[in-house]
Amino acid sequence: MPKRTKIARLTKELCDHKICVKGWVRTKRDSKKFAFINLNDGSNQTGIQIIADAELDNYEEIGHLNTGAAIEVIGQLVVSPGKGQDYEIQAQQIKIHGNASGDSYPLQKKGHTLEFLREIAHLRPRTNTLGCVFRIRNSLAYAVHRFFQERDFVYVQTPIITSSDAEGVGEMFRVTSMDINHLPKTDRGIIDFSQDFFGQPVYLTVSGQLEAEIFATAFSDIYTFGPTFRAENSNTSRHLAEFWMIEPEMAFCDLQGNAELAEAFLKYLIRYCLDHHHEDLTFLQKFYNKELLATLEGIVNSSFKTITYTESIDILQNSGCSFEFPVHWGDDLQSEHERFLTEQHCKCPVVVTDYPKEIKAFYMRQNDDGKTVAAMDILFPKLGEVVGGSQREERYDELKKRLNELGLQEKDYWWYLDLRRFGSVPHAGFGLGFERLVQFVTGMGNIRDVIPLPRVPNNAAF
Ligand code: 4AD
Ligand code: MG
Repeated sequence: MPKRTKIARLTKELCDHKICVKGWVRTKRDSKKFAFINLNDGSNQTGIQIIADAELDNYEEIGHLNTGAAIEVIGQLVVSPGKGQDYEIQAQQIKIHGNASGDSYPLQKKGHTLEFLREIAHLRPRTNTLGCVFRIRNSLAYAVHRFFQERDFVYVQTPIITSSDAEGVGEMFRVTSMDINHLPKTDRGIIDFSQDFFGQPVYLTVSGQLEAEIFATAFSDIYTFGPTFRAENSNTSRHLAEFWMIEPEMAFCDLQGNAELAEAFLKYLIRYCLDHHHEDLTFLQKFYNKELLATLEGIVNSSFKTITYTESIDILQNSGCSFEFPVHWGDDLQSEHERFLTEQHCKCPVVVTDYPKEIKAFYMRQNDDGKTVAAMDILFPKLGEVVGGSQREERYDELKKRLNELGLQEKDYWWYLDLRRFGSVPHAGFGLGFERLVQFVTGMGNIRDVIPLPRVPNNAAF
């Protein structure tokens, strides 16, 4: 019995050999003498054509195979005389594992809308489109580790359950094991979290950054890559309530070093996909985004442009465009502003730096002007913000002052302050939203189509 070969691994060298493939039937055409089956095992987009001869013992049973059935085929790999494929398999034996029940299988040959596919998220990975997306997602995750491991960064797994609001914006999901219908109360009538599992209120993390800083001040260069959670009620094509984030943190690094690393990182990831996913990207280009490959090549070959927040406000105010949201120094940039800067003005990815301190998190390093902080956001065309980062406030007194100004409790940040008391050092880092990156590389319009099972307001199905 030959061992199973994944379809993507079928090469010229295996021609005329007896091989075994396993997968799911995409299409089947029958004639009196032959059945033609397109089989897909997820390893590539095209799958392989199987020719089943009427002489096969179970040819009648094969005749009843439906789209979606799981089968195993042993046969000879041959160069295909037909158009549309390089190889095909002349089956000598077909084992049927599980047929798919008749017409009720929702993925018949015709194309489906992405909206419909979200309703059958348990089956959509078997479609051409989602197949391409999740193979690319897998490669991007691999390339993330490769990039950092090549540069001697240490991978750190920060906790998912946390008591600190890393971004200080209060968009956290509470975690409790208490019976929410019978919550214990204190004498003062408020909920008594000392009786909860951890003896204090805890949440799902919005970012692993603060814990990442602990490790950066021991290993110099580290990164996290894990799920993060935000209870922001944003029903947009770019927001998820559960998303994955990559957060490198570097000691002995300033904002410029941070931006340089981010640019090299993004280009590396995109280059990796261009080099390894030509078939998938070509498919996505054909059906979803006619400029996909050119856009990705463009990013890899571009130099990101750096402008300050203050400059970007000037550019927007002098643009002659009427934006839906007004442009004022001090207000956060809206997605329409971000897109103008990267698509119209700079025509390349843009690094916007030095935002007003009021609209950024407490931990960012204050600039000498007293008004701005050493922050950076990286904006991509069509997408807007893909990376958010900063140099961190490493000065003990400054950090303490900022916590107090914002009404945050020093005691809640005692260990974070300690990092500034014992061997403090300039350090910086950023967060890359993994799904935003996958969205960009695949050209998909909606972030819900690049994560296996999306969690968004009013939807945690599957
Ligand atoms: O800009 P954010 O909020 O930055 C941080 O969390 C920092 N602690 C990162 C750091 O400096 N270590 O989030 C970082 C990135 C954003 O640029 C965006 O790409 C993504 O995370 N992101 C989301 N992606 C999907 N859905 C959401 N709701 C997201 N919120 C942020
Ligand atoms: Mg941000």
